[in-house]
Amino acid sequence: MAIKKVMVIGAGQMGSGIAQVCAQAGYTVILNDLKPEFVERGMNGINKNLDRAVEKGRLEASAKEETLGRLSSSTSLEDAATVDLVIEAAVENMEVKTEIFRKLDELAPEHAILATNTSSLPITEIAAATKRPEKVIGMHFMNPVPVMKLVEIIRGLATADEVYKEIKDMTKVLNKVPVEVNDFPGFVSNRILMPMINEAIYTLYEGVATKEAIDEVMKLGMNHPMGPLTLADFIGLDTCLYIMETLYEGFGDSKYRPCPLLRKYVKAGWLGKKTGRGFYEY
Ligand code: CAA
Ligand code: NAD
Repeated sequence: MAIKKVMVIGAGQMGSGIAQVCAQAGYTVILNDLKPEFVERGMNGINKNLDRAVEKGRLEASAKEETLGRLSSSTSLEDAATVDLVIEAAVENMEVKTEIFRKLDELAPEHAILATNTSSLPITEIAAATKRPEKVIGMHFMNPVPVMKLVEIIRGLATADEVYKEIKDMTKVLNKVPVEVNDFPGFVSNRILMPMINEAIYTLYEGVATKEAIDEVMKLGMNHPMGPLTLADFIGLDTCLYIMETLYEGFGDSKYRPCPLLRKYVKAGWLGKKTGRGFYEY
């Protein structure tokens, strides 16, 4: 089966990036979200990224127009009826994801692969919401999608070998590097990254240093491109909290307890860059 048409669910920072790289690689892409204004925000982000690429001479103006020509908007999951692949990038919440997968299973063609960009949730549990667990797979892109090379590929318990191969091959067509990992909470990326971010938040919470000092130590001392608190704001504090909760619940180990300061910020609606305020103001 050749993948030609892709639907991306969720037009936030990840979904819009995934839609962009798929369209740039020649796939026909439907970008879906709950409301037209959410899809529009994602499309505007794509437009801006492509403009920047043209300005910097990385993309021909004609290629930008061709990319935009391959993209269309949707607010109905029924638009999955004609696609070969769905990549779900809605919020990091098991109930939301299983509900989307249950509906997609009814609406998408029998041959279609259903992938999720989840950061940490079990692929096997998401797959169990469908009657096609062999066609469900984790396709975990990194933020910002147009820049980052890695895609973690996670098989659920029932994922078929040919589905894994299709997704691995497609990742290469997107000019990214696939890395296969097993289905454990947080996979590899967030099992390692998120406890570091959570510890940085504890360091702030316990008054060990200012947020600027914590970020500076990790940037200059460890050569990280962003300090951990800036990175948390960039990822989204809601997403960071969901991931820590998945690790905590999945392993039952107190080393994964989310920092109370992270909870407080999320409750306040300070979700980071996307809402204009997190550890920093934007
Ligand atoms: N979208 C698209 N392109 C972007 C971008 C965005 N949001 N932000 C930056 N870029 C591009 C710029 O256009 C620029 O491209 P050119 O070199 O072709 O001009 C390039 O990236 C570098 O950008 P800048 O010079 O403006 O800034 P920088 O050198 O500081 O790099 C960064 C920005 C790439 C984001 C860098 O700070 C970085 O690598 N940060 C860490 C990112 C990271 O760790 N990501 C993983 C997050 S965890 C995750 O994704 C998993 C999860 O489940 C939570
Ligand atoms: P975001 O908050 O920027 O966007 C989520 C989008 O999903 C929103 O536009 C929201 O309206 C939409 N949405 C919510 N429920 C929906 C539904 N039922 N149907 C359609 N759309 C729906 O979040 P994000 O940062 O783009 O994260 C999306 C997913 O990608 C999460 O699972 C997250 O864990 C994962 N992820 C995030 C990062 C990151 O750095 N932020 C990196 C890798 C993976």
